[in-house]
Amino acid sequence: MVQTDENPFDGTDEIFEAKQPLKKDSFDPETIFHRDEEISLYVNALQDVVVGHDPNNVFVYGPTGVGKTAATKWVRDKLLEKAEEQKVDLKILGPVNCRNYKSSYRLVSRLVNEFRDPDDELPKSGYSTDTVFEFLYEEIEGAGGNVLIILDEIDNIPPDARNDFLYDLPRAEASENAAIDEACIGLIGISNDLKFVDSLEPKVKSTLGEREIKFGPYDANELRDILGYYADISFHGGVLTDDVIPLAAAFTAQERGDVRQGLKILEKAGEYARMDGSSTVTEEHTRRATETIETDEILDSFDNDLTRQQALTYIATTLAIIEPEHDARTKRIYTLYSSIADAIDSDPRSERKLYEYLDQLSMQGFVRSEDHNQGRRGGRRFVYQVTDDPADIVNAVVKSDYQEALPNNVWTILEHYKQDEATSFEAPNPDDEAQQQIWKFT
Ligand SMILES: Nc1ncnc2c1ncn2[C@@H]1O[C@H](COP(=O)(O)OP(=O)(O)OP(=O)(O)O)[C@@H](O)[C@H]1O
Ligand SMILES: [Mg+2]
Repeated sequence: MVQTDENPFDGTDEIFEAKQPLKKDSFDPETIFHRDEEISLYVNALQDVVVGHDPNNVFVYGPTGVGKTAATKWVRDKLLEKAEEQKVDLKILGPVNCRNYKSSYRLVSRLVNEFRDPDDELPKSGYSTDTVFEFLYEEIEGAGGNVLIILDEIDNIPPDARNDFLYDLPRAEASENAAIDEACIGLIGISNDLKFVDSLEPKVKSTLGEREIKFGPYDANELRDILGYYADISFHGGVLTDDVIPLAAAFTAQERGDVRQGLKILEKAGEYARMDGSSTVTEEHTRRATETIETDEILDSFDNDLTRQQALTYIATTLAIIEPEHDARTKRIYTLYSSIADAIDSDPRSERKLYEYLDQLSMQGFVRSEDHNQGRRGGRRFVYQVTDDPADIVNAVVKSDYQEALPNNVWTILEHYKQDEATSFEAPNPDDEAQQQIWKFT
């Protein structure tokens, strides 16, 4: 029973010294670990700027959470420092995260505003896109010297800005009736989507990819050092037992070498310790954190990234994968989608709409389709896969607003699926009522 005369809040925190460094992208580390080679390529690509030559364009790519943005900011700061020392004119815009700009207008005006005083900033609308681009060229020309523009998550660049940024801008000084004469522009593009690179036209690829720097995933040893650094500033001294960092690092390396995931494990483990009233974070707390981390990430997507229809499509795809006797083909996914939409009192949309949802989920990396050629019978068919473990997805659905969308026997089916027995699982027996309930949604 809660004692009403006692305040249940705890005024002290024995575990965390500071939580902020563990939070998503809210902290710029002073040291960048294990990126010496990448940083030296970076420095080499931008060295020209320091001695007064034109900048190179740079393209940085690699999977999520491997230090692309962090290393870029670090290099940016060092470059600015050196340029000032050398008295070289240099203005660096960004990193600007393209994901936050839905239109070309917004993105370009954000860049223009980096040059302008607050009372002279461009309004949220009111000019044509061409005009704001002209403003940008004017500002760049006015600034003179070298101007570096860093576009982060450049695969999310608004489609109508693609050519302007990736092709026209880096060449603005080269063309005959050039808008830029006094200044030199360098573009730094960062992306975690390799398909984006492939999708670029050759002319754009060759401009942007003048210098390419690839960031690979970290291994467990590297992650130990990185996570150790964050642990030192985030936890009180002596709170972490010896196993915590190696365990978090090993788990993270096994997954995809994404530092953010490691940081989340540390935070979670610390929270479990605090909830237990423990004065140390133990191996057991860390294990518990790793067990829930995947589910939490998916749950987070249900809450923040997916629309209702996308979520239902995602759940239907997962069910189509784990159920016996069926491939996760669009027809089957649509049948399941319709039943679960009914089950949670949501109007199912048309089959054509479902294709759209699947495409959107695929673009966001939740599902992927495999193209199975039908051979002599001709035609192609798409079989869908989910990128996360179906068991984690089901666990997340249970905790989400969509729990009603799950059939009662989902756990039985999941067990068979996990033991790789899906195909030998007996098909519903027409005389057995319980079996008949399989994949009927009550
Ligand atoms: N080598 C490193 N040393 C110190 N901190 C690092 C290192 N690599 C990554 N981090 C930290 O890990 C987190 C994720 O890194 P970062 O944001 O640079 O990833 P990213 O490669 O840009 O990922 P995304 O493609 O998702 O944007 C950040 O908090 C960053 O500071
Ligand atoms: Mg980044």
